[in-house]
Amino acid sequence: MYNGKARAYTNIALIKYWGKKDKELILPMNNSLSLTLDAFYTETSVSFSKAYTEDTFSLDGVLQDEKATAKISHFLDLARKKAGLPYFAHVESQNFVPTAAGLASSASGLAALAGACNEALQLGLSDKELSQLARRGSGSACRSIFGGFVEWEKGYSDTTSYAQVVPSNHWEDELAMIFILINDQQKDVSSRDGMERTVATSDFYDGWLDAVARDIQTAKQAIANKDFQALGEVTEANGLKMHATTLAATPPFTYWSPDSLKAMNKVRQIRQNGLACYFTMDAGPNVKVLCQKKDVASILTALQEEFTEEQLTCAYAGQGLKSLEMEVSK
Ligand code: DP6
Repeated sequence: MYNGKARAYTNIALIKYWGKKDKELILPMNNSLSLTLDAFYTETSVSFSKAYTEDTFSLDGVLQDEKATAKISHFLDLARKKAGLPYFAHVESQNFVPTAAGLASSASGLAALAGACNEALQLGLSDKELSQLARRGSGSACRSIFGGFVEWEKGYSDTTSYAQVVPSNHWEDELAMIFILINDQQKDVSSRDGMERTVATSDFYDGWLDAVARDIQTAKQAIANKDFQALGEVTEANGLKMHATTLAATPPFTYWSPDSLKAMNKVRQIRQNGLACYFTMDAGPNVKVLCQKKDVASILTALQEEFTEEQLTCAYAGQGLKSLEMEVSK
């Protein structure tokens, strides 16, 4: 039996990853830049054993179906190949999220699985190699290997596409991100399907690629200067540009729901009233608000004029991947 366990935190992109140039290797069309957060994380343990006759995957105590297990198996194959070990595995993942709905992320999940495999199979991977491996599970997972501000260099091959820390002199410790949970009944378009459709059909996709290269530079300059307004403005603008590409896809789609718009408008209003805060959204209706730690209490109070306390969760900068002791050694 080969056992390993690891914890990874989720990350939210300030400059988004949106589009792949290689689906199998998960090579992105553009660089992206994120902030790793402390409030949401995944702990995953993996055991490889000669005695197992198939891969199994349990998430939050529930054994997962064939489709979810196939994605994990595909990833395990990469780890097995690296180790030269043919055994099946059992994967057990637990998502730690402050409130139930819609905040679990594939980024923390696949990063934790990469870490657990590294431990179990004693692969001895460096952080850079862990980032490359996690990327193969889910693109955004390559950024969750690291804490704080992280840039994913798109690269051009398996070994040249990985994330690394953006030097920030601990500025992220002064920042926060408030999550506004929006419940809506719409059927989801996964980020994987959404970006694929956009790359293939959106008239705005070329414009996105031009803009994102500039936005990355602006964001990095803002981090170097600890310029919150500049970072916030480029974060909000970049998110809007990503979402604009979906409206020009065929068939068109959007992740926005009426309450997402309500949240965006509220953030703009709070800003007009003098508190610096900026929104971003990913492949779902929830709205995330980048702000400074010193303003969190006032911004939460203002957001509570429109949203319930249960809808609001505050996160701060989080750490990179951590390996954990297995509690029970079978
Ligand atoms: C909108 O990393 O979930 O959150 O690589 O297909 O697994 P796959 O996609 P995923 O996409 C994340 C897209 C995003 C933006 C971002 O996190 O950069």
